[in-house]
Amino acid sequence: MSSPTLAVIGGSGFYSFLDEPREVEVDTPYGAPSAPLALGSVGGREVAFLPRHGAGHAFPPHRINYRANLWALASLGVRQVLAPCAVGGLQETTPPGALVVPDQLVDRTSGRVQTFVESGAAHAPFADPYCPTLRSALLDAAPGAVDGGTMVVIEGPRFSTRAESRSYAAQGWSLVNMTGHPEAVLARELGLCYATVALVTDLDAGVETGGGVDQAAVFASFAAHLERLKGVLADAVARAPLPAADGCVAWLDAVDPRHRPDRGL
Ligand code: ADE
Repeated sequence: MSSPTLAVIGGSGFYSFLDEPREVEVDTPYGAPSAPLALGSVGGREVAFLPRHGAGHAFPPHRINYRANLWALASLGVRQVLAPCAVGGLQETTPPGALVVPDQLVDRTSGRVQTFVESGAAHAPFADPYCPTLRSALLDAAPGAVDGGTMVVIEGPRFSTRAESRSYAAQGWSLVNMTGHPEAVLARELGLCYATVALVTDLDAGVETGGGVDQAAVFASFAAHLERLKGVLADAVARAPLPAADGCVAWLDAVDPRHRPDRGL
């Protein structure tokens, strides 16, 4: 069996996404990833799957070992990552059930390790945090999905206050989430193509008029839309071209090999 060049990082509901999955334990210089990786095929293409929160949702967003997760995938030869996630909607135009392929993110996390760089000049370009090729594959796979939008990533694990939520919406940002950063920038540092498709599970506290965001409702909403999301991901895998040398990896060519964040891979 060939090694996978594409991975999905998502909720544990995606285990059933792979045909004939097998588990691989991977260790990294940063510790263990959230769980053993599952390898299998999707529509004939080899794919790796990593449950972002670990088995049984062991790791809350601020405790996920994002560096180990990305490194583990890259060490297997993965070059492309599709990263579905649950988000709160900050605008009434994206109600629960909407799919959005964001094109921007804002980091409002605090204290998360967000780099592999330990020496030298290795400043990843991040003006456009998501891979355009994978974004196109996701949009083609999800007719009706919103093309673009800004996802603000908060530290969590609490949800936002109404005032916080309204201030995010007032900036014109459309989505709020707890896991999209530093996942995206760590992927870029390793030269991986990375894009996310966001499933709106709730309207955030600044837009809804009830009692605020409720965890049980968020989980139930995600479960209700999981099969549709898996269908989109399977179609996106089929549409994703093989990784190219002039893609998200190209910036690393200009970095002194001694300081490359992917040195040692
Ligand atoms: N994930 C799903 N819904 C969310 C919300 N309202 N805020 C932050 N993260 C979320």
